[in-house]
Amino acid sequence: MLIAANFKTNKTRAQTREYYRAVSSYIAENNIASEAMIFPPATALDSFDGAISVGAQNAYAVENGAFTGEIGLEQLDEFGIKTILIGHSERRHILGESQELLVQKFDYFKEQGFTIVYCIGEPLEVREEGSEVLIGYLDDQLEGIDLDYKNLVIAYEPVWAIGTGLTPSADEVELIHTALRQKIECKILYGGSVKTANAEELLALENVDGALIGSGALKVDDYCTILSIADSLNK
Ligand code: 13P
Repeated sequence: MLIAANFKTNKTRAQTREYYRAVSSYIAENNIASEAMIFPPATALDSFDGAISVGAQNAYAVENGAFTGEIGLEQLDEFGIKTILIGHSERRHILGESQELLVQKFDYFKEQGFTIVYCIGEPLEVREEGSEVLIGYLDDQLEGIDLDYKNLVIAYEPVWAIGTGLTPSADEVELIHTALRQKIECKILYGGSVKTANAEELLALENVDGALIGSGALKVDDYCTILSIADSLNK
């Protein structure tokens, strides 16, 4: 399984290094087979010791140039970063990234061979319209994305479940993941209020191949617990 942590705008470089050190020793001591992937803030990007797959939360689809506030391929290459998160709801809804821009980023980083964790998810008003509308909404977010790309991972994160403590029911998660599975062969992660208390139930669901975790992974012990839950499920 793939257990990814998205630090968002949390942790310093020093805290991130310490977190990696703790996760790496946990993985070694407990023979963890699940993949640990972490998206630190840009100031903490570094591949460090290699036991963890480190990815960028965002980058601009360019090698370098005049794009104030952005980082490009050159800055990622310096730290050996070959993984990127694209389409996170906070970038879609807070930073206003359009589907067109996301497709541009996707195509660029695909061309560079990056592992791309591509996020999709519906706001509450869409969910309230029922599963047919919801699945149509997710399909629109997949528009223009090469679903056969070999280094693709999809993360399904309902917007209303992010940072709220709310999650869809197990049946609802399974329904969406199963609908996605009809069109997608790659790993499909679930994200949105995953924590130690619900990780086992969510990770055990059919067509859930891992998790993308925000606040529930900020404490390293919790992240390690979820790694070991994933391992014990033996999927
Ligand atoms: P929370 O786990 O805090 O709900 O955040 C999920 C998320 O957005 C991960 O990308």
